[in-house]
Amino acid sequence: MGLFFSVKYGNENSIFPGRAAGSQRRQGICGILMQEDMEMSDRLANIRQEILDGIKERANSRAEAFELRKQFLDSKTGKIGQLMKEMKSIAPEERAGFGKSVNELKEWAQQRFMELDEKMKERELQRRYESERIDVTMPARNVETGNLHPVTQIRNQLMDIFVGMGFEVAQTREIENDYYNFEALNIPKDHPARDMQDTFYLSPEFLLATQTSAAQIHTMEKKKPPIKIVAAPGKVFRSDDDATHSPMFHQMEGLVVDRKITLCDLKGMLELFVKKIFGEDTTTRLRPSYFPFTEPSVEVDVSCFSCGGKGCKLCKGTGWIELLGAGIVNKKVLENCGIDSEQYSGLAFGIGLDRTAMLKYGINNVKLLFESDLRVLRQIDDN
Ligand code: DAH
Repeated sequence: MGLFFSVKYGNENSIFPGRAAGSQRRQGICGILMQEDMEMSDRLANIRQEILDGIKERANSRAEAFELRKQFLDSKTGKIGQLMKEMKSIAPEERAGFGKSVNELKEWAQQRFMELDEKMKERELQRRYESERIDVTMPARNVETGNLHPVTQIRNQLMDIFVGMGFEVAQTREIENDYYNFEALNIPKDHPARDMQDTFYLSPEFLLATQTSAAQIHTMEKKKPPIKIVAAPGKVFRSDDDATHSPMFHQMEGLVVDRKITLCDLKGMLELFVKKIFGEDTTTRLRPSYFPFTEPSVEVDVSCFSCGGKGCKLCKGTGWIELLGAGIVNKKVLENCGIDSEQYSGLAFGIGLDRTAMLKYGINNVKLLFESDLRVLRQIDDN
């Protein structure tokens, strides 16, 4: 005789199969066994109800749903897992029915938790969509575009002008050795000209370059005339620090070596260059000067582009502004590089880029170029 009874779980109907028909124990003490069956079916029904309540009240996220699932379905600690363990203590003839009921409950619970997880996933996605919502009507954030540093702008302008005159561009170095920076440029160890160019020494031999003139030597060692180069980027270092000098500044070196190069070539070339940088009305004048690596040496002044030569604050009333050093390459320097000074002559010049930028853009303190103050840098856009 089979004994079945129906238990109502929430809105679901499920059959709880009791013990297998023909059980010895049931035949004699049917009443008691009915009681046991009821207790078991009640426990299962309670677990179902607990799951349904938990799902309703305690699962607001995937993490919470996962925790809830563990409480029932964890094989070791979960309530359904515990029921499985009771299997051993059940009379053998009742095991099959018991096992089937627990399995049914387990499958049902797994299904519920799977649905719950899907629901939570959906809900969390929805929450994310909400929190990441983009208001496409909001005004766009202002993206400020920068511009090139004034020194870079000047360097580019000069390179354009000289490249336009047929110059090639050579590299300068930030670290030089004593030979290239001084010795080969006719500035031996005891030469007083070294005093004005004190710098950081990395070793007795290596130093932070004090002038771009070293590029003349590097070029003449590698290349034979005709030579026509400007050297950049031109970072140089000296122990100098006031309103118009900074310990690091920039130069551009120029070198032309060919047959019959004279100061006239230099003057013509520089005249063209200053007109392009400071305006068509600007002229130049050469003043005698001294540099160990040029002979003769000159200081090149430009007519004051602010007052037109009448005299003003910028030119200190003289009508002229000192711009650069230049000269005819000293024969010794040519010979140092293996160039026949009887056949060839050269001209060289060194332009201070920071100084040119200050003059052109009316900057009264060199430090303004290195403070990265956007209010200053933004005003200078000559590209
Ligand atoms: N190197 C010099 C300085 O830093 C500038 C200079 C003067 C460069 C005369 C030259 C030159 O090429 O011919 O003061």
